[in-house]
Amino acid sequence: MSKTAELSIDGKTYTLPVFTGTENEMAIDIGKLRDQSGIVTLDPGYKNTGATTSAITYLDGDNGILRYRGYSIEELAEKSTFIEVAYLLIFGELPGKDQLQRFRNDIKTHTLVHEDVKKILDGFPSTAHPMGVLASLFCSQTAFYPESLDPNRASEGVYMSIIRSMAKMPTFAAWAYKNAIGHPVNYPDNSLEYCSRFMKMMFALPAEPYVVDPVISSAIDKLLILHADHEQNCSTSTVRMVGSSQASIYSSISAGINALWGPLHGGANQEVIVMLEAIAKDGGNIDKWIAKAKDKNDPFRLMGFGHRVYKNFDPRAKIIKKAADDVLGKLGVKDPILDIARNLEDIALRDSYFIERKLYPNVDFYSGIIYRALGIPVEMFTVMFAIGRLPGWIAQWKEMRENKEPIGRPRQIYTGQKERQYVPITKR
Ligand code: SDX
Repeated sequence: MSKTAELSIDGKTYTLPVFTGTENEMAIDIGKLRDQSGIVTLDPGYKNTGATTSAITYLDGDNGILRYRGYSIEELAEKSTFIEVAYLLIFGELPGKDQLQRFRNDIKTHTLVHEDVKKILDGFPSTAHPMGVLASLFCSQTAFYPESLDPNRASEGVYMSIIRSMAKMPTFAAWAYKNAIGHPVNYPDNSLEYCSRFMKMMFALPAEPYVVDPVISSAIDKLLILHADHEQNCSTSTVRMVGSSQASIYSSISAGINALWGPLHGGANQEVIVMLEAIAKDGGNIDKWIAKAKDKNDPFRLMGFGHRVYKNFDPRAKIIKKAADDVLGKLGVKDPILDIARNLEDIALRDSYFIERKLYPNVDFYSGIIYRALGIPVEMFTVMFAIGRLPGWIAQWKEMRENKEPIGRPRQIYTGQKERQYVPITKR
């Protein structure tokens, strides 16, 4: 017997079906509420509203659980690789040896971008933020692959869009960085694996041999795994919303890149470093900055702290914090802001303001410290998040399309003027 919920208003009672998911999460299905009652629900920011059902990622914010297709983030971060996790998220199962090899090879043969992309890149001043360049270059694929505009193209066509997206994202990202520093771009070296290939495009200089440090490449691979998907976050919901109009995968993901850019979302990893450096410049006065974060009249928030869903430790933050120690130790890097970060976390976690609001470090709190140690420039931190989140965006877009979900069109409650007559300007 499936569960139901009853809603009573103005002396009428409406019976609504209750949907129960794999992990016994329950949702009241209000799909027919407005037809039955003329009433809609209201939930700015969708804090309590499920937009869809999904089989990709499960997270339990109270218990700090995150699983991709049922596999724990802890196991995947320790035992898997980013490309294998990307395959898992997109196609639903861990690949066999041949499947993984085909996926890797298909990606390798599409890492080059059309030379005309340089004309677009040259249009950006070197002051352009790499996230804006990345969103534009990614969307430009609609011009080079116009067949991708067909929303109902055959699965082989969708597969090619997936491969091109995975293959070219690191190239676009590295080219956006080279544009920011006024250096010539590097072409992808397909003799290297995904992360090493990206590092070489980012940091190789003309006439100088570039050897990828395996410690760096391995750390980046782990960070990309940790960022790969996170169910219906702001940027992923954007990808699904844009894709629901049957826009191409490239324009849907370009919209997701722009949503991720915001400082409350993926842009937070860059803002964490800005915050830690400001605290360091201010003599390490952590108590002053904690007070600012708690002050309602001060717009400053503790960047890298708090989360819409996690009301316990973000499991990714725990893994990244440990990785920060490992990577900085292996690289012999001493970073004073890592000490500030640790002290800040320690003080905040003992402060009643953060305890009452269940504010813990999130994925962005320590990731920037590792990126900095790896030599990634701060304006590229959110780009790194986008490279990691790409397979999640692809998987969610593909699921939405395969489930033939309707175009997204939320309702509203109008609070403006009642009807009134036009007044000619001579009488205003
Ligand atoms: C990501 O959704 C995802 O899954 C996102 C993400 C992913 O993988 O896709 O996990 C990636 O975006 C991580 C979050 C990165 N952002 C930041 O680190 C920015 C700082 N954090 C906040 O702005 C905030 O915590 C949010 C945006 C992350 C969550 O905000 P909510 O859920 O809308 O919570 P809220 O703004 O309603 O805050 C609740 C209370 C408020 O105080 P009161 O009004 O109750 O007195 O907590 C306070 C807030 O003022 N608060 C903070 C705070 N975060 C929340 N106060 C100080 N510092 C903070 N960081």
